[in-house]
Amino acid sequence: MLVLGLETSCDETGVALYDSQRGLLADALFSQIDLHRVYGGVVPELASRDHIKRMLPLIEQVLAEAQCRPSEIEGIAYTAGPGLVGALLVGASCAQALAFAWDIPSVGVHHMEGHLLAPMLENTPPQFPFVALLVSGGHTQLVRVDGIGEYRLLGESIDDAAGEAFDKTAKMMGLRYPGGPEIARIAEQGVPGRFTLPKPMTDRPGLQFSFSGLKTATLMAWQKCIAAGDDGEQTRADLARAFQTAVVATLTIKCQRALEQEGLTTLVIAGGVSANQALRHSLENMLAKRQGQVFYARPEFCTDNGAMIAYAGCQRLLAGQKEGQSIHVRARWPMEELPPLV
Ligand code: KG4
Ligand code: ZN
Repeated sequence: MLVLGLETSCDETGVALYDSQRGLLADALFSQIDLHRVYGGVVPELASRDHIKRMLPLIEQVLAEAQCRPSEIEGIAYTAGPGLVGALLVGASCAQALAFAWDIPSVGVHHMEGHLLAPMLENTPPQFPFVALLVSGGHTQLVRVDGIGEYRLLGESIDDAAGEAFDKTAKMMGLRYPGGPEIARIAEQGVPGRFTLPKPMTDRPGLQFSFSGLKTATLMAWQKCIAAGDDGEQTRADLARAFQTAVVATLTIKCQRALEQEGLTTLVIAGGVSANQALRHSLENMLAKRQGQVFYARPEFCTDNGAMIAYAGCQRLLAGQKEGQSIHVRARWPMEELPPLV
């Protein structure tokens, strides 16, 4: 089945064509980062307007890349939530209009299910069951996954998401948006051990996360450096390193705990923060000791993209799931509400 996937939940317009027999045929992305950077974060109304501008040219681009005619497309998948409502509505209305015009089924995809299944697009996909760590700008969740649509939430952040903590910490240290890749980049030059920051919630049992205390501790350390006139590039890199180390250590400890609790040795990491190299290495080391394995998507499919939506939607369409003609999106949407495939 050939499926067109549309992603517009936040600040990236993603379009892809996935075929259940031939795999991923084409994918295209327009990132609005430059548009939002001057504001230090995503401006929802600007995001919606830009999605409208980019959507149709990107669809034409993937059709041309895959040398495919619209009449060959057998289904449309779009992100129906969670995300910015105005932005989601652009993808949803475009998908529903095309599905009506082309007389093919459409399906609304859960954005985090898209992220979760993105590693399935790689050459060696993970096998069910596994524990998934979903780490994006809006979510930090540990989920037990027994199959597509068979999700049990094991723990989540009680305040900031991991990506949000990266972004906010970067902003207060004068780094540009989005902060995750910036912190990761400068942390490479940072001296390990110069600053020690708390590893939040690791001394207590359970699988909940909290990143706001770490964010405040980092801010206080940075303000102290500024007061002492020690706020140069090297100090910033050293502190970025300490922040990243604390986040990575926290995520690693919780992943290990979740795997032990569930009696599993397969871990999947997904979402923007799963592109972080220090996180990947730390989880790989942890799992090597347990004869386990960690799976993740290629870097461009860790952050938002159309390919993951086309893939997830294709699985649901193949199982006979589809939407009516109404246009319905959700800003919030617990993943556990999703139906299983059969
Ligand atoms: O999944 P995503 O593209 O969008 C959401 O669904 O939120 O994730 C974006 C988040 C941002 O917070 C960004 O700073 C973070 O992922 N991120 C990273 C890295 N690349 C992106 N965080 C840490 N290290 C990275 N290399
Ligand atoms: Zn995302």
